Amino acid sequence: VGFGHVGKAFLGLVREKREWLKTHYSLELRLQALLVSAGGLFSESGITPRDFTEKAGPDLNLSSLWRPGLNVVSALGKTKPGIFVECTPSNIQTGEPGLTHIRDALKAGWHVVTANKGPLVVDLKGLRSLAGKNSLALKFSAAAAAALPTLDTALHSLAGAEILSIEGILNGTTNYVLTQMGEGTGYPEALREAQEKGIAEHDPRLDVEGWDTAAKTLIIGNSVLGLELALGDIKVEGITRIPPELPIRARQEGKAIKLLGRLGRSGGCWEAAVSPQLIERSHPLFGVNGTNKGISYTTDSMGTVTVTGGKSDPRGAAAAILKDIIHIFARVQ
Ligand code: HSE
Repeated sequence: VGFGHVGKAFLGLVREKREWLKTHYSLELRLQALLVSAGGLFSESGITPRDFTEKAGPDLNLSSLWRPGLNVVSALGKTKPGIFVECTPSNIQTGEPGLTHIRDALKAGWHVVTANKGPLVVDLKGLRSLAGKNSLALKFSAAAAAALPTLDTALHSLAGAEILSIEGILNGTTNYVLTQMGEGTGYPEALREAQEKGIAEHDPRLDVEGWDTAAKTLIIGNSVLGLELALGDIKVEGITRIPPELPIRARQEGKAIKLLGRLGRSGGCWEAAVSPQLIERSHPLFGVNGTNKGISYTTDSMGTVTVTGGKSDPRGAAAAILKDIIHIFARVQ
């Protein structure tokens, strides 16, 4: 569901890796429905890329499989449950339309993989409980910094270690803008370039005012640390008020300004904040530049573990969706 940058990249990636998935995972993916707000394509035996690209171009409604008004509930009921992939734009205030889509899919017995942050920000606890009740997977790597394995690192690689604090560069758009500003590019131009890369949110204020980082910080805190943060619990400051000379001066002094999402304990309580920070060369996230991201977990028994890279782009988000599907397939096989 959703045929924007990420949805298109996901279908392209599945097409590209079709043979490879068969060889490496004995996994054959069949696309039975492709939905947008006005309707969708449906085929029991599987929609081929030709059905929506070569015949229809970018306009799905020109395809012979187009069914006007086809919605999530009716499409879910047409076929045996499989994996429902949610790629509609994130609305971090209401969670909609993704929240209703995901609830409907879980109620209908479908595993869910989502790239959409909104439903997780609004009701991760409720969605997890619904998935658990129905013994279904709910996976959301693509909503938690996508190609950067924030959740898998914490939940698998750090199993048994107590996480004491978390710091992350979780938004590629702002990291790109700050990197470019450090090299003398003006803020508007740098932001335009990030938008051209297809990584900025529909409303780029969500990136530059820090809300995308806050949403990811919340999702990571609530899923990895078991917190119950709401957006209102996070102190959020973006990059819009940074004077243009500041990133340049920081760079000249061998430092860098980064927009960090942080989770730490204060007086026994977890606190979350998003703000630009001046960091030194010795900081584990210092070398994370451009659209790359990074996350650093400080633990009691494994020291500080940092993962970097996983640049924001639609292909990386698509790859995170595919990874979650492969993990679900491995579990239910
Ligand atoms: N707008 C986000 C970013 C990508 O710039 O990292 C989607 O989470």
